[in-house]
Amino acid sequence: MPGLDTKIHLDMLGDFKRRNPLPLRLLRALRRELFQPGIYGLEWGDPEVFAPLGYMRDRFLKPYVRADHNGLEIGPGGGRWTRYMLDFKTLTIVDYHQELLDQLKRGFHKKNMVFIKNNGNDFPGVPDGSVNFLFSFGVFVHLDAPLIEAYLASMRRVLAPGANVVLQYADRTKIMAQGNPGFSDNDPERMRAMVKAAGYTIVEEDLTSLWHSSVIRFQP
Ligand SMILES: C[S@@+](CC[C@H](N)C(=O)[O-])C[C@H]1O[C@@H](n2cnc3c(N)ncnc32)[C@H](O)[C@@H]1O
Repeated sequence: MPGLDTKIHLDMLGDFKRRNPLPLRLLRALRRELFQPGIYGLEWGDPEVFAPLGYMRDRFLKPYVRADHNGLEIGPGGGRWTRYMLDFKTLTIVDYHQELLDQLKRGFHKKNMVFIKNNGNDFPGVPDGSVNFLFSFGVFVHLDAPLIEAYLASMRRVLAPGANVVLQYADRTKIMAQGNPGFSDNDPERMRAMVKAAGYTIVEEDLTSLWHSSVIRFQP
């Protein structure tokens, strides 16, 4: 640690101010408003700005997006993650709330997208064995164990051989999840047990990058 008499932080602050004068900051804000219309959900963190979410995108989402594969997202909200999945051959969007699907369609309506309203744990109309990559963020953190188990059971039908599933879930071993009443009662041990009991093979986990949740990737 540098001595207390060194002015390292004052130098860094001066450098920041020089590189980010007020007119430049205002210009950036104006450009954002004009050219990057708001996406519902960015208030929970923008992967473009918040490093741990950028890491999630780069590690657990982008490497799986392929033009010859089909992707599926559960619970897109305003499209915070959907926007990185547009290059799949087919991108199926599944949500329990029609209003959310309608809102999403206003921002994203590419020909390769299919929007499906489900009953909270199923995949109506999704062909058997058709999904190569299934992703969900900001959804399973709120789902109780019986609903997670129901989803794990029903997704098996739509997954292709060798498919990858990435789910973010509440991690009550973390203090930020303990203090969040909207988060379900879950943690890595219980999530692992549910995934294994449903017959999947766990490929990797990230238990450290996020403050209130963890991520698991598994295959059928
Ligand atoms: C908190 S938002 C997260 C949105 C987005 N994934 C994100 O990270 O910004 C939760 C989304 O999941 C949807 N949802 C909630 N329960 C669901 C369920 N059981 N099945 C499918 N979608 C669900 C909501 O309608 C909403 O679109």
